[in-house]
Amino acid sequence: MSDTSNKKIIFSGIQPTGIFTLGNYIGAISNWGRLQDEYSCIYSIVDMHAITVRQDPVKLRAHTLEAYALLLACGIDPEKSVAFIQSHVKTHAELNWVLSCSTQFGELSRMTQFKDKSQKHPDDINAGLFTYPVLMAADILAYNADLVPIGADQKQHLELARNVAQRFNGKYGEFFTVPEPYLPPVGARVMSLQDPVRKMSKSDTNPNAVIFILDEPDVIIRKFRKAVTDSSSEVRYADGKDGINNLMTVYSVVTGRSFGEIEAEFEGRGYGDFKTAVGEAVAEHLKPVRDNFKRLTADKAYLKECYTKGAEAAERISQKTVTKVYRKVGFVDKR
Ligand code: TYM
Repeated sequence: MSDTSNKKIIFSGIQPTGIFTLGNYIGAISNWGRLQDEYSCIYSIVDMHAITVRQDPVKLRAHTLEAYALLLACGIDPEKSVAFIQSHVKTHAELNWVLSCSTQFGELSRMTQFKDKSQKHPDDINAGLFTYPVLMAADILAYNADLVPIGADQKQHLELARNVAQRFNGKYGEFFTVPEPYLPPVGARVMSLQDPVRKMSKSDTNPNAVIFILDEPDVIIRKFRKAVTDSSSEVRYADGKDGINNLMTVYSVVTGRSFGEIEAEFEGRGYGDFKTAVGEAVAEHLKPVRDNFKRLTADKAYLKECYTKGAEAAERISQKTVTKVYRKVGFVDKR
């Protein structure tokens, strides 16, 4: 990607905390690939965000490399997009500090993800967990991104990034682009297969609740067959049918069919048939991702070359922003 193109800029990131879920894929990554021709896209494996929750260093390193390979396996083309590992690019931490001085304690306290994670990890409510959204704002603003493709659970953080950008602009003069969220019209919130009022999450302790995108086809089909639904049998999108609504959403995304078409396809057939069809469609849809992943992980040298180049490009772009920001706030030029 050239930094001088006139295309609008997209930034997004994903944490390397394990194999991506179908939620990550449908809510975010599958859209990232699609946007690569129309926009200048910058995508990051955000390992610095991951350590806000305690990580085993050996596993984090392995998961980060695996996540990078998965990113490419999902269709992110390192020739078209900048794809890098966050900790390789020091400007994120630098901008994080400056932006933290334009972020209010009160607004960080309102972040629902902070409240959820503090409850989950009461023995480690660290300052990084609290200031996490500032680093996310730095990720986005370092590239002056116009659009940020995310799932619904990241909307509040994006709103904070917008507020921080506006506050900085108010203090120092118009500078940052105020980024817009880009949420998919269908699938911005994929739900747990076992408790469809909760979002599908990597950290769910019930493996039947989550589809991991490298699950084998028979595992995927089995998990969908076990999905919790309601006591009726009509495949119809309606209030109170959370399980069926979720399965219809997933089926709609992977087949491209509308809810009306799905209802017609399964009219007079029971939930059993429908669940199997969803499982088969998802398994088929993810087959290229599994194949690409196997191929890519066998070529460590290629992956290294890609993330090294990605980091160089990311640093080149974001260093310009940080240099200007340092001037704006009154730091003395180094040379
Ligand atoms: P993370 O790693 O939790 O998730 C990555 C992306 O997947 C989306 N997602 C979902 N979408 C639909 N249904 C679900 N069940 C589901 N679960 C996850 C998330 O919304 C997200 O888009 N803070 C971010 C990472 C980040 C970032 C950024 C994102 C760091 N810096 C800058 C955008 C821009 C996070 O933890 O995502």
